[in-house]
Amino acid sequence: RALANEIQRLLPTCVSSDKSVFEREFVLFQRIFKRFLSDETHISWDQIHPPSKGTILMYESLPSPDDSEIVSLLNQVAVVKLNGGLGTSMGCSGPKSLISVRNDLTFLDLHVQQIEYLNNKYEATIPLVLMNSFNTDEEMQRVLVKYESVNVLIEIFQQTKHPRLNKETLLPIINNLDMQSGSEGWCPSGHGSIYESIYHSGMLDKLLRAGKKYIFISNIDNLGATIDLNIINLLLSKRGTGSPAPEFVMEVTDKTAADVKGGTLVEYEQKLRLLELAQVSKEHVDEFKSVNKFKIFNTNNLWVSLEAIKRVVEEETLHMEIIVNPKTLEDGTNVIQLEQAAGAAIKCFEHAVGVNVPRKRFLPVKMSSDLLLVMSNLYRLRDGLLTMSDKRVFPVTPLVKLGTHFSKVKDFLKRFSNIPDIMELHHLTVSGDVTFGKDVVLKGTVIIIANHGDRIDIPSGSILENKIVSGNLRI
Ligand code: UTP
Repeated sequence: RALANEIQRLLPTCVSSDKSVFEREFVLFQRIFKRFLSDETHISWDQIHPPSKGTILMYESLPSPDDSEIVSLLNQVAVVKLNGGLGTSMGCSGPKSLISVRNDLTFLDLHVQQIEYLNNKYEATIPLVLMNSFNTDEEMQRVLVKYESVNVLIEIFQQTKHPRLNKETLLPIINNLDMQSGSEGWCPSGHGSIYESIYHSGMLDKLLRAGKKYIFISNIDNLGATIDLNIINLLLSKRGTGSPAPEFVMEVTDKTAADVKGGTLVEYEQKLRLLELAQVSKEHVDEFKSVNKFKIFNTNNLWVSLEAIKRVVEEETLHMEIIVNPKTLEDGTNVIQLEQAAGAAIKCFEHAVGVNVPRKRFLPVKMSSDLLLVMSNLYRLRDGLLTMSDKRVFPVTPLVKLGTHFSKVKDFLKRFSNIPDIMELHHLTVSGDVTFGKDVVLKGTVIIIANHGDRIDIPSGSILENKIVSGNLRI
C-alpha cells in the first residue's frame, strides 16, 4: 500500500508525454513487488528432480531441414539480442554491444554480419531486434544509422525500467519522475522483462504481422549464439514428428568447473524450471554447484513462440522468480533492485524442452580474458561467425586469468603490442604490471607475475612454454 501511495505521489511529477509509459511500468512493477513480498517464488529443495526423459534433447539428434524448406523456416524467425547492459565490467561507459571485439568489429557488427550472411545466402528476411534499456537506447539510436544499407532490418524496443528501492523502507528512492535528474533511482528490470516489454512496445504484433512465429533471444555478448537451422526445424517443420511443437526451447550445455554458478534446468511440479544460484539456500549451494548432480547450465539462448508470449502476457500467467540484487549507491544508500531472468519463463510455456547444444554456441565475452581468446588466432572469423581454428589440437579453450591491470579494455589493448599466438596454450595467469611485445608465443602453462612496484615487459618474439616469470626470477 505504501508503494502504491508513493507511486500516486510521483505520477504528477512526470512529463505528460511519458505518463502513460510510467503508469504501465508501475502497474507491472507493483505486481512483481507483491510477489516479492509474498515470497511465492520460494523453491523447496526436496521437490527438485532431474529433468525427465525426453525434456532435454541432444542437439546431435535433431534432424536438419530439407533444403527446399530452409528459406521459409528462416523467414518465420526474428533474432532478438538482449542489449540493455553497459560495458562497465570491461571498463567502458556506453552500451556493451558497441565494444570492439575483433578486427575493430563490435558485438553488434558481428551479429549483423551473421544475419546478413544468411539473408544473402538464402534470400531470407531475418530481422535483428534489439531490446535496449533506458541506459542504452539513446546511443543505440545514434549508431543504427550506420547499418542503413545492410541487408538486415534492424528494429529496436525498450525494456521496462524499475525503481530502485531503499533496502530498509522498500520505497522508491526517487523524488520525481524526471529521468535526467534521478537516473540513479532507476535500474533495468533484468532480461526477464523481455516478454512484457516486447508485447507492450507493439514489437510483438509487428513481428507477427510480418509473418514471424518465433524469436531467438540471446545475450548480445554471446558470440556463439547464431541462427541454427536444426533448432528452427524442431520448432517449425511441417513434416510432423508426432509431438507438439515446443513453445519454448532453452539451449543448455554441459557444465564444466568454470560454469558452476550458471542456472540449471530441473523438473519442479512436473514442469521444467530454471534454477538459479540465487534461489538456492546456503546449505545446498555445494550440491547445486556439483557437476555430477546438475550436469548442464543455461546458455540464455532461448527460442520462444510469439503467439505463446502474447497469450501468457494477456492471460497474466507469466510468473518468473524474482532476483533481489542489492547495491550500494555512491552516497552510501543501500538499495535493492528487483529483477527477473528470461529463462525463468520456461515453466509458463507449453511443451517446453531443453536442447543440449555443443559448447561452441556459448561464447560469451564478459571479461578481458575472454577478449584475449576471441581476438587471438584460436578463432577464425568468417561472415560474423567465430569458429575455433582446426589447428588447435586440444578440444578446450585455454584457461586465462588476467589481473586487474588488464580489466579495462583500454588498458588491455595497451598492454599487448599484438595478441600472442595461443594456439598451444593450456593455462595463462598474468598478474601485475606486465606488457607483451609483438609476436609473442605462449604454450602450455605460462604464469607471469610482476610484484608490486615491479614491471615485466615480455620482449617481442618471445616464446614462453611452460614458464613461470616472476620479478627478476625466470625459471
Ligand atoms: P547479464 O549482465 O545479466 O549477464 O546480461 P550474465 O552475467 O551473463 O547473466 P545471465 O546469467 O545471462 O543473466 C546478459 C544479457 O542480458 C542483457 C545484457 O545486455 C546481456 O546481453 N540485459 C541484462 C538486458 O538486456 N537487460 C537487463 O536488464 C539485464
